[in-house]
Amino acid sequence: MNLTDLENEAKAYYDKLWSNPKRIHKIIEEIPSWHFGFYEKGINNSNEAKINMMDYVGRLLELDDESFMKILDAGSGVGTTSLYLAKKYSNCIFHGITISHNESIIAGILQKKSKIRNVQFQQGSYMKTSYKNNYFDRIFALESVIYSPNKKEFVKEMYRILKPNGKLVILDIFPKKYQFNPLSIKIDSYLYQRKNLDRNLKNYYIDINKFKKFLTTEKFVEIKIHNLIKTGNIKKSILFISIILSSYALLITKLKTINKKRPFKYKFILPFIFFVLILYKLLISINSNIYYSIEAIKK
Ligand SMILES: C[S@@+](CC[C@H](N)C(=O)[O-])C[C@H]1O[C@@H](n2cnc3c(N)ncnc32)[C@H](O)[C@@H]1O
Repeated sequence: MNLTDLENEAKAYYDKLWSNPKRIHKIIEEIPSWHFGFYEKGINNSNEAKINMMDYVGRLLELDDESFMKILDAGSGVGTTSLYLAKKYSNCIFHGITISHNESIIAGILQKKSKIRNVQFQQGSYMKTSYKNNYFDRIFALESVIYSPNKKEFVKEMYRILKPNGKLVILDIFPKKYQFNPLSIKIDSYLYQRKNLDRNLKNYYIDINKFKKFLTTEKFVEIKIHNLIKTGNIKKSILFISIILSSYALLITKLKTINKKRPFKYKFILPFIFFVLILYKLLISINSNIYYSIEAIKK
């Protein structure tokens, strides 16, 4: 795989995240899937919301018992969404592609365990796939496009491998312009250990209008965009919790290495500075409704 710096950073991040065997056990035992969940009337807790999100993806893809389709899960993680949908829509064939080696291995283990045959997983980048032109009837990307180092190129690749009249479905965060100010970007780069972000900024942080432009330039039609935080389907509190948890997890690893080299007094000053920075990140997120669903048809 020939990856860009930013793709390598996403790969390293997810390989590290899924290198812990305890987490693998947890996913099999307790957590149905790894995304924000989709809240509607009658949904009472986060596990129900996660299952509902996978059902919602199925609805957006317009799948039913009669569907015989080839479907790509772009950025498939540990494969739970594809496995769920493959079981539900057993006439469809699902392909999951993820940049992380560890995720693709776990997805394979989960597939073997579940004995679901109409799905296959591979390690690779959705930026440059080996699929033939016009191959898929449907493509979905659930909370994975945000990592694309160049959203314009991502849209191009999805257009290439989608069949005419095929449908692309994306659910993700598209930050607002004021969120990508220099300080916020520095915090992000530090937390997620992205050394290469500054130079590639133009293609990395894209607001929803710019992304829509890429879709229209590529001749996608019937584009529908919904702000799922405004509709209440995605809970902002979950967005905040995820910022806090991921910041906490990454800082713990960072602090361990920093604190080894520093005198005692810095052990308190550094966590305090980090705390203030995370608070700042939360504050600039507070007024932003930034989670969208996108549907688009290839002309
Ligand atoms: C937040 S996770 C979402 C995983 C999955 N869609 C789900 O909902 O459980 C983001 C995923 O995007 C994947 N990813 C990031 N960059 C990628 C790339 N260039 N190509 C393929 N997958 C990528 C990561 O490996 C990770 O699995």
